Amino acid sequence: MKNIIIIGSEGLIGTALIKGLCKYYNILAIDKRKNSKNSKNFLSCDLSTMSGIKILKNYLMLSKKRYFAVINLAYPAVRGKKKNFFTIDPFEISEEISEHFGVYFSTMQTLVNYFINKKIKGNIINFTSIYGEFIPRFEIYDKTSMNMPIQYLITKNNIINTSKYVAKINLKKNIRVNCISPGGIIDNQNKNFVKKYSRFTQTNSLLKAKNLIGLVEFILSNKSSNITGQNLIIDDGFTL
Ligand SMILES: NC(=O)c1ccc[n+]([C@@H]2O[C@H](COP(=O)([O-])OP(=O)(O)OC[C@H]3O[C@@H](n4cnc5c(N)ncnc54)[C@H](O)[C@@H]3O)[C@@H](O)[C@H]2O)c1
Repeated sequence: MKNIIIIGSEGLIGTALIKGLCKYYNILAIDKRKNSKNSKNFLSCDLSTMSGIKILKNYLMLSKKRYFAVINLAYPAVRGKKKNFFTIDPFEISEEISEHFGVYFSTMQTLVNYFINKKIKGNIINFTSIYGEFIPRFEIYDKTSMNMPIQYLITKNNIINTSKYVAKINLKKNIRVNCISPGGIIDNQNKNFVKKYSRFTQTNSLLKAKNLIGLVEFILSNKSSNITGQNLIIDDGFTL
């Protein structure tokens, strides 16, 4: 079985992907949580810190396994969730943007160097969001405690652009870099929000985390070997 890495393995999407992919791939699960409920093959590290990045680099250097792909699902907490554009502290959001973006940037840098050094045909999949390119339908958050904070849009947009840049500078090095941008995933959200969101989709609902497995399998496979530098949206039609 081929070896892959899943970062953010303990979250909503990580749990579904590990269930769906473990029959076909040997998975190294990575998360900043201390323990894993999803995998015995687990590395705890916070990839928004230099010490966390060092743990990953050392692990890869010492491992006898050759990892050919990384799926990054890390989702650092959004702290200023309830604040809006008019009131948010600009320096607080810079910190959040830098923490979230940093996890994706440091992972890409570490893995690209690893693939080149080990002469591996590498595959990087970054999870972004429809909100990396789509301005929210703000009305779906009315009368709920939810909103779509601007720092999330900024970060995901940066990750999409940086992934294209990294794909382009590694075009001749057998390394592919793509983004997967899902729409909202069902997770016990406010009923009002679910109803309003669902009006815009094909199946009158949000996505289930397991709906993402097929697209990830495709990007991991040779069937997608000519796809690099792309942002693949999977949203059941929400952004149309
Ligand atoms: N859930 C959704 O509705 C949705 C929709 C679109 C896009 N996405 C994107 O998909 C990805 C996964 O989302 P999710 O819903 O599974 O998130 P989640 O919050 O359920 O899980 C994220 C995981 O990342 C880990 N993590 C956070 N910071 C980390 C760090 N610095 N180092 C290592 N691990 C870290 C957390 O511990 C957590 O286990 C994210 O990139 C998110 O932006 C999610």
